[in-house]
Amino acid sequence: MQHPHFSPEILQPKQHEIVNPISWDSFRFFLAPLESNTDLALRALCYRYGADFTITEMVRVQALVRKNKSTWTRLCFDHQTPTLIQLLGNQESEIREFLQHFIPPQQFYGFNLNLSCPSKSIVKLGLGCALVKRVAKVQRIIDVFREFQYPICLKIRLGLNALEKQQKVYLRLIQNTTPDFFIVHARHGCQKYIEPADFSIYSECSETGKIIVANGDIMELQQIQYLQSCGIQGAMLGRGAIANPSIFQFLKGAMLEIGGQRSISVAQTTSIIQIKSEYLDLAKQYNSPEHCQRNVLRRFEQDFRTMDQNILQ
Ligand SMILES: Cc1cc2nc3c(=O)[nH]c(=O)nc-3n(C[C@H](O)[C@H](O)[C@H](O)COP(=O)(O)O)c2cc1C
Repeated sequence: MQHPHFSPEILQPKQHEIVNPISWDSFRFFLAPLESNTDLALRALCYRYGADFTITEMVRVQALVRKNKSTWTRLCFDHQTPTLIQLLGNQESEIREFLQHFIPPQQFYGFNLNLSCPSKSIVKLGLGCALVKRVAKVQRIIDVFREFQYPICLKIRLGLNALEKQQKVYLRLIQNTTPDFFIVHARHGCQKYIEPADFSIYSECSETGKIIVANGDIMELQQIQYLQSCGIQGAMLGRGAIANPSIFQFLKGAMLEIGGQRSISVAQTTSIIQIKSEYLDLAKQYNSPEHCQRNVLRRFEQDFRTMDQNILQ
């Protein structure tokens, strides 16, 4: 197990090893950040079952800068699983201070900035999806990551509320900022999971020419085919992935079959008994926090459409 480090000295930009780049030569699958669920064991399991990249649950830049121990311990890595670190922050000076001391681990693929959390307490601080409309501010934050040559992508909602969605603030942000790519959760900040994600927005997002990864309610091959037809380069799965992490293998296998590249069916999911046992082995190996283990075990095999309907996350 590895952790990113907080160097006691100030590191000069470029002093870190070059971080692994993400290549977009095929459709990419991501495991979504899920607070108190996507511990290293679940991320490693999803990678084993076909996720190309995983993202840590969100951590506050402020807590990292203050060297909060429990925040840093949430950022554990292994030697295989490609991982992005999700940050919640909006202060350029604080982000710079964090990056000046950050030593990335081996399987680090860059940062993901959270512009999607709709929780009231977060939005009140100008964080999460309150940032979607703040194009200039977001670009200044991106520029800080660029100073240090770190890959940076944004995870966004469609705006803070229905009005912002209607005004297409998300499109303005996509057109006018320059992260490496965007992950678009197709709901606005006042929508709970009981309302379906709006797949109709993806074409216009893709027409900007930017790299877009879709998120929200994805778990079927037909959805992936639709996204591909819109020019979307990847899909990020959250609740569908915890219900059965082998969904990644299933979807990838099914895509190969449709493409005529496989004659034998590989589009199968693994039994939940097997999944549970593999997760528990990994949780033991990586010393997963009890609360994560409890949450993950509770979610295996659950139909996510009946869970979380009234939460805002
Ligand atoms: C329990 C839970 C925790 C979440 N934690 C985070 C988080 O830490 N950061 C984040 O950007 N989104 C978080 N989300 C939102 C998911 O990443 C994702 O955008 C959302 O669940 C929609 O994708 P899905 O339909 O595939 O689950 C969370 C969602 C749930 C249900």
